[in-house]
Amino acid sequence: MRPDFDRYISVSAKIETRDLDWEAAKQAGLTDDERFVLTYFSDIESQTIRYLRMLLQMKIAFKPDVSAFLTTWNYEEFFHGYELANLLAVCGYKLEENRVENVKGRARLNEWLEMLFAPLLSKIFYHQFPAVYLSFGAIQEMTTLRGYERLHSITQNPVLKTLCERIAKQERRHFAWYFNHARELLQQSRAAQRLARRLLEFNWVPVGAGVKTPTEVYRLFSIIFPGEFGRQLVREVDAKMASLPGLEGIRLMEPYFERGGVL
Ligand SMILES: [Fe+2]
Ligand SMILES: [Fe+2]
Repeated sequence: MRPDFDRYISVSAKIETRDLDWEAAKQAGLTDDERFVLTYFSDIESQTIRYLRMLLQMKIAFKPDVSAFLTTWNYEEFFHGYELANLLAVCGYKLEENRVENVKGRARLNEWLEMLFAPLLSKIFYHQFPAVYLSFGAIQEMTTLRGYERLHSITQNPVLKTLCERIAKQERRHFAWYFNHARELLQQSRAAQRLARRLLEFNWVPVGAGVKTPTEVYRLFSIIFPGEFGRQLVREVDAKMASLPGLEGIRLMEPYFERGGVL
């Protein structure tokens, strides 16, 4: 067994919430912007299981270390969504019972096309596709991580602050796993590098863009990464992705948010 496998399994857990002062959370309340952000985050975290379904089409998903990661990753993500929804409820903004299904129902057309085409493409490019999925995973986990870090530094709600800190710790590990494994697979194949580059440039959208409207995606970005924070984030993320084999010079986030006029 690889050392990173042991390390990952030994620290994986549901985020701790039993010690949180929910009364203080209620007293502090949430701003309108925080309410919007938490609803967005909770919705997206709760959709992770749909991505697991796609990832399970990879043959490597059944390698012991990969399947262990995917299992614990989904478990952790589930509780991120669950606890954020819980905080919303405590502060008086309970999400509807069948929220997860409703959000899924709003998936845009391109999401459905993606769901249809990804299995097809992954059959044609069977050996190259895992590198593509893991590269997508890396950029999504990195932006999620930065989102929680920023929310942690701007919120006045003590419970939200602690939740963000604990969730970010797990997102940091998710990012490291996706990034390191994407790098490993990309290193092994020029064809995978070309495919990953092409699909990222062609198909990549920010976390949540599959189920949220562009207006919501841009609003979230402007709340969490206002002004210089936005420019700094998009450049940092693009540079990190560009450090992967075959992705030199790639630009994903900066052009996306420039087009939206929020940079
Ligand atoms: Fe998460
Ligand atoms: Fe994550």
